[in-house]
Amino acid sequence: MAHGLQIKDEDSGYNKNLFCIPKHYEEDLERVFIPHGLILDRTECLARDIMQDMGNHHIVALCVLKGGYRFFADLLDHIKALNQNGDKSVPITVDFVRIKSYCKDTCTEKISIVGEELSTLNGKNVLVVEDIIKTGRTMKALLSKLKDNEPKMVKVVSLLIKRIYRSPGYRPDYIGFEIPDKFVVGYALDYNEYFRDLNHICILKERAKEKYKS
Ligand code: HPA
Ligand code: MG
Repeated sequence: MAHGLQIKDEDSGYNKNLFCIPKHYEEDLERVFIPHGLILDRTECLARDIMQDMGNHHIVALCVLKGGYRFFADLLDHIKALNQNGDKSVPITVDFVRIKSYCKDTCTEKISIVGEELSTLNGKNVLVVEDIIKTGRTMKALLSKLKDNEPKMVKVVSLLIKRIYRSPGYRPDYIGFEIPDKFVVGYALDYNEYFRDLNHICILKERAKEKYKS
């Protein structure tokens, strides 16, 4: 069972004045929650775990856009480093999907996938790369669509999962950090498209939500 680095409910992160924050976001952030360096260190370790399990056969790394793109790029850098320095190596190809989800009457989530022709996943080791998982409903729906294409193996890595009591209990195969149910931005996670251009994962001030409201 994957756990990830646990960030406790009472853990509020770090004073933002001790980090470099883009000027245009200085007033919007409460605290630095997960510093960029820590994200990269944890990502290196995830890459090692993933290659141990999947590194015996062609891997298709499938990025869930847009929020997954930073994590995807950094994770693949680490995977490539392992793949070129080890005794054995496997081809790694990439695909990208965007998911639109809509939930009717809360029962089962319907999703539509925008992106690649998924038949290329047939017979491959597929690694789904996601930024954050809250309830897991969208991921379950995506997995059921991927399985229609008969991949050899499917694993899911999520940089973050939110600790939600009463959730249906989906857990990905690999987890970067398990965090409290707070709204976070940065490292490609957005609020109405803002804050993707922030390196650290941070907690927003309430009034920033008002400022960037769509
Ligand atoms: N931040 C950004 N996007 C999200 C979050 C979050 O905390 N939770 C679900 N999607
Ligand atoms: Mg996502």
